[in-house]
Amino acid sequence: MLKIKELHAGYGRLKILRGISLDVSQGTIVALLGGNGTGKSTLLKTISGLLPVMDGSIEFDEKDITNSKPHHIVRSGLVQVTQSKEAYPAMTVEENLMLGAFTRSDKAEIKYDLEGVYSFFPVLKDRRNMLSGTLSGGEVQMLVTGRGLMAKPKMLMLDEPSAALAPKVVLEIFANIYKISQTGVTILLVEQNVRMALLLAQYAYIIRDGHIMIEGKSEELINDPAIKEFFLGGTVTDTSKGLNA
Ligand SMILES: Nc1ncnc2c1ncn2[C@@H]1O[C@H](COP(=O)(O)OP(=O)(O)OP(=O)(O)O)[C@@H](O)[C@H]1O
Ligand SMILES: [Mg+2]
Repeated sequence: MLKIKELHAGYGRLKILRGISLDVSQGTIVALLGGNGTGKSTLLKTISGLLPVMDGSIEFDEKDITNSKPHHIVRSGLVQVTQSKEAYPAMTVEENLMLGAFTRSDKAEIKYDLEGVYSFFPVLKDRRNMLSGTLSGGEVQMLVTGRGLMAKPKMLMLDEPSAALAPKVVLEIFANIYKISQTGVTILLVEQNVRMALLLAQYAYIIRDGHIMIEGKSEELINDPAIKEFFLGGTVTDTSKGLNA
């Protein structure tokens, strides 16, 4: 569904991604793992059309989207939930959710999908008229994910959805990602919680210094001594917590 070939990208003349190739098959959850500053968000931003492609190609749903405009990419069904978890604090929960539907004009279906998001995240329904600035961290994560769903994605890219959340909330977030995937939405999941991400995903890529260092089936990676050593060795501190958990 998503096919990335030999992608090079970065900021201005600063190259961060140096030849990334990555595939996500329809209906799967694929994890993209790696430590701080290795290029995970840069990759998602480039796929979303927010950063220019310097070299290589990106194909989504059998169409070339290399250097397509961000709103075209969203409209084609490829939607990113950013790491910064930006909900507009002075807007209500429902107003924030409706922003996700900005590329759509099918009013009746938008209303239907809003109810769908509310049945996924009942707490958002309870808080629909509250300012999103009053939500807890876990609720904001649900809100930004719900906003992504309002774009009617075929594929959702989630950038560290579990970051900075309490362990109990993290479990809930991962359960929700599983539920979303069960509805047929393909998922590319960026995480530092390596163990949880490998349990959820079928396939994973580990990125380091703008390269794919290792890729493979999750069940193979989770038992790979080299992976354990790499993530437990202190190179990636946050992830080692994930593996120790
Ligand atoms: N706007 C920017 N301008 C210049 N360099 C940037 C910019 N944003 C990120 N970088 C650099 O690009 C590299 C990769 O950053 P990126 O945000 O992709 O990492 P990441 O893997 O998402 O890390 P994290 O897990 O901390 O979110 C880092 O060296 C970072 O300093
Ligand atoms: Mg990041």
